[in-house]
Amino acid sequence: MTMVQKLPASGPAREALREKGQFWTPAWVAEAMVGYVIARGSTTIFDPAVGTGAFFQAAKVLSNRVERPLTLLGTELDPKALDHAQENDLNLADLAQVQVTNFVLNPPHKLFEAIVANPPYIRHHRLASADKLALKSFVQNFTGRNLDGRAGLHVYFLLRALQLLAPEGYLAFIVPADICEGVFAASLWQWITTHYRLDAVITFDPVASPFPKVDTNPIILLIRHTTPTAEFFWTRCQPTEIDDLKIWMQSGCNESSNYGLNLHRRSIKEGITTGLSRAPQVELENSPVLADFVTVVRGIATGANEFFFLTSEQANALGIPDEFLITAVGRTRDVPGDEITDGTLEALQKKGRPTRLLALDGRPVEEFPERLRNYIKQGEATGINKGELIKQRKPWYKMEVRNTPPILFAYLGRRNVRFIRNRAGVLPLTGFLCVYPHNRDTESIEKLLKLLSHPQTIANLALVGKSYGDGAIKVEPRALERLPLPRSVIAEVGLQQPKAKQGQFWEF
Ligand SMILES: C[S@@+](CC[C@H](N)C(=O)[O-])C[C@H]1O[C@@H](n2cnc3c(N)ncnc32)[C@H](O)[C@@H]1O
Repeated sequence: MTMVQKLPASGPAREALREKGQFWTPAWVAEAMVGYVIARGSTTIFDPAVGTGAFFQAAKVLSNRVERPLTLLGTELDPKALDHAQENDLNLADLAQVQVTNFVLNPPHKLFEAIVANPPYIRHHRLASADKLALKSFVQNFTGRNLDGRAGLHVYFLLRALQLLAPEGYLAFIVPADICEGVFAASLWQWITTHYRLDAVITFDPVASPFPKVDTNPIILLIRHTTPTAEFFWTRCQPTEIDDLKIWMQSGCNESSNYGLNLHRRSIKEGITTGLSRAPQVELENSPVLADFVTVVRGIATGANEFFFLTSEQANALGIPDEFLITAVGRTRDVPGDEITDGTLEALQKKGRPTRLLALDGRPVEEFPERLRNYIKQGEATGINKGELIKQRKPWYKMEVRNTPPILFAYLGRRNVRFIRNRAGVLPLTGFLCVYPHNRDTESIEKLLKLLSHPQTIANLALVGKSYGDGAIKVEPRALERLPLPRSVIAEVGLQQPKAKQGQFWEF
């Protein structure tokens, strides 16, 4: 019987899982992935992050089915995870060739014909600085390139595994989609696809996700160490297609056996520019983008909202004169609809939500009124001035400056990603992006808002955002500027069509 992982919803137990990247692969996915890597007759499989042995268990099932012995090889950092492998019907003999080691920094000195993994998903800010340096130099030596520092451990896992993949070998990795969506993705995939053959990328409809309660969007990458080709297969798996997907992967992704799957044959070039985790978008290649109409800047980062972002009562009680305060909104939740009016602000004030931002300039402390001086000193006494972001400001209490944006963008969420008309002249904090139209007259702004709230425009956000589990997305400022805008909708709302650009779209 395969162990089904019970996930703690939150708290320290969940945090510990994140720290170690310990989320187990469900049996059906493990069997499909192992099926792919052994499809051409390999007699071994290597799992660099064995954990509780989901892939070993799947390999035993398949080995019985195909009546071919399979040698199980692996590495694992945490010996305690291996202790639970028996719950996956694995015995000591099955685990005998698992080395307890750090796979990326201290890898085995040999090549493998079939590599299968669900690598730990550990984001870059959780990695120790010394490890980061070692990881950087490994990538530099292996690829001759530098990998952006924001790549998580799973990206290094993939590169190390590719390095240890024997010629003609097969590799299957299940990883979060950010490996194809992050700032580093385009150059990473250009390198991989010029040295290896990308056979297929499998994505999942949120309702078919192998990790339904985890806030990442998983994808499966199927790669071979053989001559690269210009095309790859891509699919978005629906719940009804799971059996077909397994059969297809176990055939080694042979097109003639694709059964009921909705497979797309895509060019590598288009896949990398669109993002391998996203559906094909060939027809949008020369589409106008949001940057043709607006500039996008992130909201104000205070570095310490508890000090700088106050309720009206707090500001009054502290005796801070109005000239040092501006009206601001902090959380996406504080703006329920698609506009901010004076009424929105009154409602927030009634609820006791902060709306007053202490927006000081860089003058010396002595030049501020006495009560404000005292508040600044109070901040220093409690160490507010030592915060990561704040200590880089000179003087530390000087606030970032933004013009009032006519439009805000709530950039994170499932249904909440939306454009908001700023009718109250507020400034947003980092829960929002500031959208500044090139054309500032009211009529153009109203037309632009129609364009931005159009369902086709909203649907395109998935093309530029980073996807998370459950269909949620997050859109960064530069990515939002690349949002494709349908020409038909531009015409419908009465805005002037931007001039067509040749080959400029989707540049990274
Ligand atoms: C996402 S789990 C996958 C486990 C199992 N293969 C599965 O699919 O269910 C990743 C595993 O990698 C292990 N791990 C984390 N860092 C590692 C490293 N540097 N080297 C080897 N294993 C590591 C974690 O302890 C965890 O057991």
